[in-house]
Amino acid sequence: MYGNHDVLIIGGGVAGLTLALHCADTRRVTLVRPASDDRGASRWAQGGIAAVLSPRDDFEAHIADTLVAGDGLCDERAVRFTIERGPEAIEWLLSLGVPFTRDASPDADYPYHLTREGGHGARRVIHVEDATGRAVLDTLKARAEAHPSIIVRDDLTAIGLIGDTAGHCRGARCLDAQGIPTDLMAQDTVLATGGASGLYRHTTSPQPASGEGMLMAAELGAELMNLEFQQFHPTCLYDPEGPPFLISEAVRGEGGRLINTAGERFMPAVDPRAELAPRDIVARAIDAEMQRSGEPHVWLDVRHLGGDAIRHHFPTIQAHCLSRGLDLVHQPIPVVPAAHYSCGGVATDLDGATAVPHLHAIGEVACTGLHGANRMASNSLLECLVFARSCAARLAHPAQASSARIAVAPSGDTPIATESIRAWRHTLRDLMSRYVAIVRHDDGLANADRALTELADEIALAVQRAAPEPALASLWHAVRLARLTVASARVRRESRGLHYNPDCPHHAETPARPSRCRLDDLTTH
Ligand code: SIN
Repeated sequence: MYGNHDVLIIGGGVAGLTLALHCADTRRVTLVRPASDDRGASRWAQGGIAAVLSPRDDFEAHIADTLVAGDGLCDERAVRFTIERGPEAIEWLLSLGVPFTRDASPDADYPYHLTREGGHGARRVIHVEDATGRAVLDTLKARAEAHPSIIVRDDLTAIGLIGDTAGHCRGARCLDAQGIPTDLMAQDTVLATGGASGLYRHTTSPQPASGEGMLMAAELGAELMNLEFQQFHPTCLYDPEGPPFLISEAVRGEGGRLINTAGERFMPAVDPRAELAPRDIVARAIDAEMQRSGEPHVWLDVRHLGGDAIRHHFPTIQAHCLSRGLDLVHQPIPVVPAAHYSCGGVATDLDGATAVPHLHAIGEVACTGLHGANRMASNSLLECLVFARSCAARLAHPAQASSARIAVAPSGDTPIATESIRAWRHTLRDLMSRYVAIVRHDDGLANADRALTELADEIALAVQRAAPEPALASLWHAVRLARLTVASARVRRESRGLHYNPDCPHHAETPARPSRCRLDDLTTH
């Protein structure tokens, strides 16, 4: 055991790095940030960060838009808390030198360009061309690596949390590249491990998390919330031979139109906000259009914007499309919805504190109440920044450390074939994509429940005898999170936001409530 780190942060996306930089003023920070974090969700957040920055915008308008997108399930206190702290979070990024795109037009009322995205009634998304996540991440990472009070461990992968007999979190169990366990003991542990889009076959980022952090927290007794609200981004490039590639919502924000195989725009007939309706509505409309036509995608057309505007606003997207033989200037591009963001996660308060003493969660792994049943575009990086900052303020005043006995689960020593792990992962993604995606039916959810329970039982046997191993640990977390997701979806007897079930297609008459679950809720057959 390697002991007594002050603050241990697991995950090095925008949330984890922001927290590290703020905490390091008062406490020594250890950041477990495997190299794969450079390929996680933060890097692919192309669009930007939503905040009230233009003098023509105001907090109440941003709050109202977020509540509408969240379809009655947002916690208004969390919404207000986040949005009111947006401008100072952006000021902080500017002070670090994030190269946000400037607005050079003569009638600009704010020095930086603000784009529009679905659900937003105003231009309020500050961005770095069409590669915001990458630019913010690179800036934060360089600062963190140079900071004398931050130790970055890129050689370790966290596979579980360490608890004690008093129910407190005491650190994390990690594995190095050779699979040798290293227990990092810490006064405070913070999960910033991302969401659960990796439970699905098609995703908007090449290496999404699959709920590992959520399940690690649940293993120590934390409560999970709103797992049934998995967001599918409406427009991922349809490219069966290529890597997943997001086509930012900003493309529709700047005027991009969705068209079907007959060459007709279909969104205006679905919603008066057309292509800029909230994501759940646009993704569902695309899904319905694909079902109707039998085609595996629809089209996104920006030709009318002209070559100069396309190259100016979307250089990264245009370069990627060109590399795949598609030219936005001259042709519509094929797009398809893909798993993008988990609105649910570990239930936290406004400082990222979970129900487990000394365990915090921030960013996509957390459920703060901001997003409700459907996250509005570009509110996620905002949440990462605001909650990392509030969490750091709380951690500046450490609570009394526990001295109870540490509880470490025993492990086996049998190697498990990589092929088996890959096949189980494939089955898991297949089940979730078939039964628990944009549209869920009662019988599909029942099938998923049965099949996932069997799969989990099989994986559990392997876990009991296996030597600790990152891919198996990740799968074990993922399959249990999938089961909890299905259970949450079955309990919600209504359609709301991202959870659409044609067997109960309307809002319930009773007031909307978040769903809540714990690991103990799972039963085995
Ligand atoms: C996008 O650019 O559409 C992704 C950003 C987000 O999901 O908020």
